[in-house]
Amino acid sequence: MKVNKIPTPALVVDIAAMERNIKHAADYFAARQSKLRPHFKAHKTPEIARRQLAAGSCTGITVATVREAEVVARERLCDEILIANQILGPGKADRAAVVAKQASLIVAIDSDETLDDLARAAQAAGIEIGVLVDVNVGLPRCGIAPGEPAVALAKRASQTPGIVLRGAMGYEGHVMGIRDRTEREEKAHKSMDRLLSTVRMMRDEGLRCEIVSAGGTCTFDITGGIEGITEVQAGTYVLMDNTYLYEDLPFELAFAIHATVLSRPRPDQCAADAGLKAMASDHGVPAIAPLPGMEDATVLFLSDEHCTISLPADSTIRPGERIKLLPPHIDPTINMHDVLYAVEGDEVVEIWPVAARGYVEQRSI
Ligand SMILES: Cc1ncc(COP(=O)(O)O)c(C=O)c1O
Repeated sequence: MKVNKIPTPALVVDIAAMERNIKHAADYFAARQSKLRPHFKAHKTPEIARRQLAAGSCTGITVATVREAEVVARERLCDEILIANQILGPGKADRAAVVAKQASLIVAIDSDETLDDLARAAQAAGIEIGVLVDVNVGLPRCGIAPGEPAVALAKRASQTPGIVLRGAMGYEGHVMGIRDRTEREEKAHKSMDRLLSTVRMMRDEGLRCEIVSAGGTCTFDITGGIEGITEVQAGTYVLMDNTYLYEDLPFELAFAIHATVLSRPRPDQCAADAGLKAMASDHGVPAIAPLPGMEDATVLFLSDEHCTISLPADSTIRPGERIKLLPPHIDPTINMHDVLYAVEGDEVVEIWPVAARGYVEQRSI
């Protein structure tokens, strides 16, 4: 099938660009002590994860949800899965215990509640589940305070039946949006000092800490180069998005939303068929890929099914023509789609299911 026959709106992956991104990351970690544990949440697509793992330098896969872990285990993508997130709420720990029977599983904990619920599920299933103590390194989200509180939780975990303490993690997400490399480096180092000083305290107490997991796309070669960090959880790098295209990063945009112009109600505007239900807009509106007749066009706003575009009055664009939008936030955008169209040149060579979108498999109670 030719690319211009794909029904729109559609997410289209440029395989060659994606493979270049995968190679850049694999080459970087091949030469380092730290390795990559690619974050599956960015794309939720087994075929992409297979290619990331095949490139080497990976310790396993990182996921954010139990649903993603279930899919990674079902597809037998890797030996070890890290749920780099707290899992609490009906059924989650028990589902994680099922995953732990299919692959080595590690889960982030940052409270007695997260530890106890996981231990309960592991004991009920008659298995052991690994944990990393999630240390707050500056992102105002999850994570226990560094130092004594984190060490106390690690100690409790090490004494809890059904639980195996494997180490610590800390995600410096507050640093990712800093475009300036020097400032990003400085803040990433500060964050990792919080994590690594906690790890030293854990080891001083005789606690096991073989995994120290951190990092993302914008710090992959900062955090990944810090002694003591054993793995980086980067996800966006594989396809990128229009927000993370920083000059110092070697990754390129490898996907776009293809849309069809539906209407040109006035000379200076048109509307295409990709709106809020086709892409996330929390990081702003998408850019428009350069196209004859669309030079200097900008997205004005998104509505449910439409993207309203401001056009130069002499634009030749007509209803029925196709455009490409460059989405600003990959993870929630891909989560809205059932499939990714994988292309080489202008040929669709494969259609990949976004197998782990959503939260549950079951459709009834
Ligand atoms: C805990 C955690 N680790 C890693 C990542 C991956 O970061 P990135 O998308 O920058 O690669 C995220 C992204 O939000 C995250 O929440």
